[in-house]
Amino acid sequence: MNAEINEGEKKDIYILAIESSCDETAASVVKNGRYVLSNIISSQIDLHTLYGGVVPEIASRKHIENIDAVITEAMKESGKTFDDIDAIAVTYGPGLVGALLVGLAEAKALAYALGKPLVGVHHIEGHISANYIQDVNFEPPYMALVVSGGHTNLVYVEDYGKYEIMGKTRDDAAGEAFDKVARVIGMGYPGGPKIEKAARLGNKDAIKFPHVFLDGDTYDFSFSGLKSAVLNYVNKMNMLGEKIVPEDVAASFQYSVIDVLVTKTMKAAAEKGITKIAMAGGVSANSALREAMQKACDEHGYSLNIPAPILCTDNAAMIGAAGYYEYIAGRRDGLELNAVPNLKLGERI
Ligand code: KG4
Ligand code: ZN
Repeated sequence: MNAEINEGEKKDIYILAIESSCDETAASVVKNGRYVLSNIISSQIDLHTLYGGVVPEIASRKHIENIDAVITEAMKESGKTFDDIDAIAVTYGPGLVGALLVGLAEAKALAYALGKPLVGVHHIEGHISANYIQDVNFEPPYMALVVSGGHTNLVYVEDYGKYEIMGKTRDDAAGEAFDKVARVIGMGYPGGPKIEKAARLGNKDAIKFPHVFLDGDTYDFSFSGLKSAVLNYVNKMNMLGEKIVPEDVAASFQYSVIDVLVTKTMKAAAEKGITKIAMAGGVSANSALREAMQKACDEHGYSLNIPAPILCTDNAAMIGAAGYYEYIAGRRDGLELNAVPNLKLGERI
């Protein structure tokens, strides 16, 4: 078919996306769910580092201070005007309620003032959808490992918006374990990047921490036992008056987490007969995890898609990608849309 006629037939869809579920205030303009025209992220990490973790009240206040400027910047950088925007997508859960409400109120105000549709997006659906930006040809079905600060899920993505959760953490999320272990060995917040850096200088076989697979054929995860094992190890060494080598603790801990994540992902893919794997969430920025997953996929003959690190941690471009698929599937929210701190994946509220 003539390309020009083809283009004329299909109108481009521009989504303005807003994300404020935790400690990043972010806005982005995304074209057709795949092309990022702008991706502005105002991180509060330095501020929360002072307190050793995210302080919800401070997060909300900072979102309020930053959100207008972040949206203005995202629009400016996109080269588009509000007239060009087809819909406003916004994260409405899961996350910190006060933080979510800031982005949601802003999105509702914009949708109302501009007369544009409002589309609520699930934060984890956003993380998963970052894969559609990374590879514009990437499509379901695939197996996604979602590893963030609040979630650890093995998700079979059968189609856009159609998810089967095959496994989830029974206690701590993978990112939470990174953050807690970093605190125990004196590395501070956020733990993930600090552990990753230290682990590069350490020996992953130095300390035998448990690799928790749980009983039976479950795809669930558990990281609280590993966290306790690290704590017990550090306490024992302190009592004995022996010095710990933080790099070895970091490397051995990280190895334990990665081994379990990769092994379970391969098993879940095999059960579903799926050869396409994707990763999502802040922990998938971890280079050791990326390498280990790539190696396992190569061995199994599976393909692997991982978003660039900036698309793994919280951002609004991923909300724009997810919002696009929700929008073309017909989702429209009213101004009564509320923040849902514990929103389940696939749940419609
Ligand atoms: O997805 P995300 O940005 O926010 C949530 O939705 O939770 O994930 C944040 C989590 C934090 O626990 C952080 O320590 C972890 O992702 N993280 C990492 C790395 N970068 C961020 N964990 C391991 N290695 C990293 N390089
Ligand atoms: Zn996130």
